[in-house]
Amino acid sequence: MIKIAPSLLAADIANLESQIKMVENAGAEYLHLDIMDAHFVPNLSFGPCVIESIRKHSKMVYDVHLMMENPIDYIDPFAKAGADIITFHVEAKSNLDDCINKIHSHNIKAGIVIKPDTDVKEFEEYYDKVEMVLVMSVYPGFGGQKFMPEVLEKVTYIREKMGKDFDIEIDGGVGPANAEAIIKAGANVLVAGSAVFGAENPSEVIKAMKSYEK
Ligand code: DX5
Ligand code: ZN
Repeated sequence: MIKIAPSLLAADIANLESQIKMVENAGAEYLHLDIMDAHFVPNLSFGPCVIESIRKHSKMVYDVHLMMENPIDYIDPFAKAGADIITFHVEAKSNLDDCINKIHSHNIKAGIVIKPDTDVKEFEEYYDKVEMVLVMSVYPGFGGQKFMPEVLEKVTYIREKMGKDFDIEIDGGVGPANAEAIIKAGANVLVAGSAVFGAENPSEVIKAMKSYEK
């Protein structure tokens, strides 16, 4: 099943409640929450207190993407704040097994994230330990960047290895123009920040991306 995950980073941050309700009503299943610490990426976004305050406003799956140097330090606060999934970068400084176990200790889903220049085979021993792999199609740190189609072969590699029921998320520069190729490559969770929050009609955009489901 194709799931759309609008990234809150692209929303009107001064009106979070109405923006969240708008994308939920437009058909999004996930809300993608980009957490940036100004160390792992050259940008700073928001912390657990924001997740805590928006949790009551939506039933969507809160998909927390930790772009942090030491993700292990923030798994508990984000899990307590209401995350349903926590993903963290394999390129960060924390031990992968410790992060995965800590996320699972909260009975929520764990995922690993790989940057465009990280070899898809380098961390394949972890695919069986998590519920989702997030393949970055931009270098992390900012919304509104150009999609990097060369990462699609990584998506296909993971899909062939993990089978049809495993969640593969793609993140960065995703929209109706590339959704067909992305879904054909094997991704089933599509993060879309500017494509959805910047759209005249977000439900049309979400419907268009889902229309490529096989
Ligand atoms: C980038 C973030 C992405 C980004 C997506 O570091 O992880 O989630 O916000 O935004 P768009 O869809 O506009 O590229
Ligand atoms: Zn993200």
